[in-house]
Amino acid sequence: MPVSPEDIKNMHKYETLLLMTTEKLMRKYSWVPDDVLKKSSGLSAQETEFRLGHLMEKDMIKSSSVPYRGYQLTFTGYDALAVLSLVKKGTISALGCLIGVGKESTVYEALGTGVLALKIHRVGQRSFQSARLNRSFMPEWKHFPWIFASTYSARQEYEALKALRKGGVSVPVPVAINRNAIAMTYIAGRNIQQITLENPGEIFDTILENVKKAYALGYIHNDLSEYNVMFDEKEVWLIDWPQWTETSHPNAKDILMHDLENITGYFSRKYGIACTPEDAFKTVVG
Ligand SMILES: Nc1ncnc2c1ncn2[C@@H]1O[C@H](COP(=O)(O)OP(=O)(O)OP(=O)(O)O)[C@@H](O)[C@H]1O
Ligand SMILES: [Mg+2]
Repeated sequence: MPVSPEDIKNMHKYETLLLMTTEKLMRKYSWVPDDVLKKSSGLSAQETEFRLGHLMEKDMIKSSSVPYRGYQLTFTGYDALAVLSLVKKGTISALGCLIGVGKESTVYEALGTGVLALKIHRVGQRSFQSARLNRSFMPEWKHFPWIFASTYSARQEYEALKALRKGGVSVPVPVAINRNAIAMTYIAGRNIQQITLENPGEIFDTILENVKKAYALGYIHNDLSEYNVMFDEKEVWLIDWPQWTETSHPNAKDILMHDLENITGYFSRKYGIACTPEDAFKTVVG
């Protein structure tokens, strides 16, 4: 389940300590043994039991009794650590309401310097297989629990947002990253599939202009559709970049065509704009 802002606000420092200790020990153990956790945390056995009970109620830690009593961080626990670290650093002061729950992420409003969006990545085990192949990411640990793989996805998105923003593409400004969470500027607008645009032709051209700029910088979105374009009555924003692909990728042309088919298809169906994916391709690639 998504991490609850209430639970974050009410975390006891010993609970945070136990989450951090479990996280560290999970590099070594797939289930962190009860006695090892107690010893490493420096807390008394009784205190540890008590705090672990709370963490399990909040679904931040899970336990197993076979083949020995041990603990694992859950996705919710990992998310909590990311949020708590961003709070500690001063990036955000509080987690606000939930604004989006996708297949592989949860997005919250958050208060920081202005209003921010906090996107917490949760990638499944299948995506982890590809993360495993990425040597630059894989740490030299004894074993790699796959909940940590969502950090890879967050980094991919953060790096892309940084480069795209610098290159003048209309994307949220990335503000900070910790583990699997990215803080970025909040767009006070709607996804375009939720609204009827007054000037669809202009918006469509602006989307292509941005796709073209991204392409010139070496980036293809790879999940572009009406669901990943936002409009705030002034500007058009391209969001959701973790799966971006390099323009040098062997299938780059197909991937870009797929993005353009989605967008041209949507604007043709909803607004009767006649631009074929091939025409859009020519505009983007030049
Ligand atoms: N910077 C932002 N400002 C405001 N709202 C945002 C922002 N980023 C994301 N959102 C909202 O949260 C929703 C989900 O975000 P996003 O599209 O990035 O991830 P996702 O769709 O969950 O990812 P996936 O495709 O893996 O399921 C968006 O559709 C949008 O409504
Ligand atoms: Mg999306």
